[in-house]
Amino acid sequence: MQAICLGLKRKGRKIAFVPTMGALHEGHLSLVRRARKLGDTVVVSVFVNPTQFAPGEDFARYPRPLSADKRLLVTEKVDLLFLPTASDIYSTDHSTFVDVEEISSILEGAARPGHFRGVATVVAKLLNVVCPDVAVFGQKDGQQVAMIKSMVRHLNFPARIVVAPTVRERSGLAMSSRNRYFNQEQLSRASCIHRGMRAAEALAIAGEEDPAKIEAAARSEIEPTPGVRIDYIAILDPDDLRTLDRVEGKAGIFVAVWLDGVRLIDNIIVRPSRRGRK
Ligand code: PAJ
Repeated sequence: MQAICLGLKRKGRKIAFVPTMGALHEGHLSLVRRARKLGDTVVVSVFVNPTQFAPGEDFARYPRPLSADKRLLVTEKVDLLFLPTASDIYSTDHSTFVDVEEISSILEGAARPGHFRGVATVVAKLLNVVCPDVAVFGQKDGQQVAMIKSMVRHLNFPARIVVAPTVRERSGLAMSSRNRYFNQEQLSRASCIHRGMRAAEALAIAGEEDPAKIEAAARSEIEPTPGVRIDYIAILDPDDLRTLDRVEGKAGIFVAVWLDGVRLIDNIIVRPSRRGRK
C-alpha cells in the first residue's frame, strides 16, 4: 500500500485519505465526498483497530458489513480501499505507541483507558502507510479530532487535517456505526442527546455565560429519558478541550451517555455572538 501511494505521489497525484472502521453510513460518505474535492486520488481504509478498544468493550461485536461497505465505496468512486488485517498492522513484536498525553486523559480518555493511545497509534501508522496530502476526520468525534490535530503538529506529519461537520438523522441523532445496535424505539430515545445539546446552545445564544447553567440545560433534557445514564456533559474550548470559566466566544458542548448499555458520544460547537448578549 505504501509503495502504491508513494508511486501515485511521484506521478504528482494529490492523495486525500479517510480512515474508518467500516459499517459505513452517510457520515463516513460525507467525508469521502469532501476528500474527493480535496485530492485527486481518494483512499479509504476500513480497519477495526483492536488497540483502541479497552478489554470488555465491543471489539468482537463491532459491525463488519464488508460487502455493503465495498458497494458504497464503489458508488462513491473511491480510488483505493485499504483493508489490512490486524497482523498487517501489528506485527507480533509491535511495541511502539503514540500517546498524546494531555488531551487523552479526559472525557473519553478517562472513561476508556488506552482508547486514544490506540487511535493515535493506528492513525500515525495509517498516515505513514498512505502518505496523504490531506486526511479528513469528522467533528462527530470531537476529542479525537483535537487529539489528531495535536499529534500531527507535535510529530510533524506532513498531512493537512480537515474536519467535516457531523451528519445527523432527521431526529438529530448523530449517525454512528454503533446506532446499528439499536431498534427504532431506542433510536428515538437516543435523540434526547441532540435535544439536550440544542437546549444548552439556545441558552448560550440567549446570553447565558455560566457553563454550569448551560450544562444543566442539557442535563435536564437528557436525564429523564428512560434507559439513559449520563457519563459526562462538558462545556470546553473545542480546540484544546480546556475548561471554560465563562462562555463568551466559541464553546464545545461534549456529551457521552450510556443508552441500554451502549455508549454514545456527540458534541456541538456553539458560537454565541457578542451582540445582543446580557
Ligand atoms: P469511525 O468511527 O469509523 O469513524 C471514521 C470517521 O468518520 C471519523 O473521522 C469519524 O469522526 C467520522 N464520522 C463518524 N460518524 C460521523 C458523522 N455522523 N458525521 C461526520 N463524520 C462522522 O473514528 C474512527 O472510526 C476511528 O477511531 C479511526 C479514526 C478510523 C481510527 O481507528
